[in-house]
Amino acid sequence: MGKPTSTNILSPVSPISSPVKTGPSSRPFELRVPSYRPNEGHVRGPCPALNALANRGHLPYDGRNITFGKIVHAMQKGMGLSYGFAVFMAIGTFTLMRRPSLKAFDLHEIDKHGYIEHNASVTRDDTPKGQKYAPLDIDHARLQAFLDKSHVTPTSQGKCVITAETIVDERIELELKSQPLKPLYAEIARAEFAMVLEIFGAGKDKEVPTEAVRTLLEKEEFPPDWKPTHVLHLWDAIKMSSHIRKLMDERRMDEPVAHAMLREPPQGQDKEAHHQGLLELTTEWWQQYWQSKEVGGV
Ligand code: HEM
Repeated sequence: MGKPTSTNILSPVSPISSPVKTGPSSRPFELRVPSYRPNEGHVRGPCPALNALANRGHLPYDGRNITFGKIVHAMQKGMGLSYGFAVFMAIGTFTLMRRPSLKAFDLHEIDKHGYIEHNASVTRDDTPKGQKYAPLDIDHARLQAFLDKSHVTPTSQGKCVITAETIVDERIELELKSQPLKPLYAEIARAEFAMVLEIFGAGKDKEVPTEAVRTLLEKEEFPPDWKPTHVLHLWDAIKMSSHIRKLMDERRMDEPVAHAMLREPPQGQDKEAHHQGLLELTTEWWQQYWQSKEVGGV
């Protein structure tokens, strides 16, 4: 398969000539309006946030020639990351892309499977075996299945929101359907949405309106008139990601059992032997569960 070139080619709108700065001058964040849509020859990648940053001009509109410095700048100005966190992201990008030379890249290059890109994504299908690049097209049914998990909470004033629990539900389901992710990629997948909650979320639980998440993931845009409201430090993102992992781990105690139950008996094995196996697995699971709760075995 050749390299993917561009995605989401929508009707072109002229790029703005100069950014409109809003908010107190002490705040470095910028709101740039109106947004630009990728034109012929312009490229986008699998990250909705980087695509949105390019659509707003925090990264080059054509999605090309992304340097270390441009990532740092876009992360700070467009998303509100602290300088330290922005540098961490830029280092992570070039490290995972195996580019110690820091040679600039185009957005579609981060779609190389197994570098930063991974399976079990919310918006895009898994990379077929033997392909070098992941599918770039958004799978709208897949995305809708995620958005359908959003819900009203006691603090969301009647609005549907995405919460850490929504992410947990979705990640468990996606990782159950795909091949299990390597720990690094499971961590990256959690971190992607930990950042969404921390950047766009409000209140103690960092709830994000479902429509804002749809705008980001489907249109690869920021919500209208949105600009960062606070500086996001690396530590906050780590804390949120760890929170998601903890909730997943608690729920995942069920996972081997759930996997086994979903499967038909392996060929050549009769149902009785399969059920016996399930019983042993379930017993083992309960033993582990009680041991982990430190209330003794059964
Ligand atoms: C240097 C910065 C970044 C790089 C290089 C990067 C790269 C990527 C890549 C390669 C993917 C595709 C992963 C997959 O296969 O699903 C991705 C997905 C994603 N990224 Fe980024 N990203 C960056 C920053 C951010 C930031 C700041 C956010 C915060 C909003 C973000 C949010 C997301 C989300 C939510 C996804 C998941 C999409 C899905 O599951 O379909 N990214 N990113």
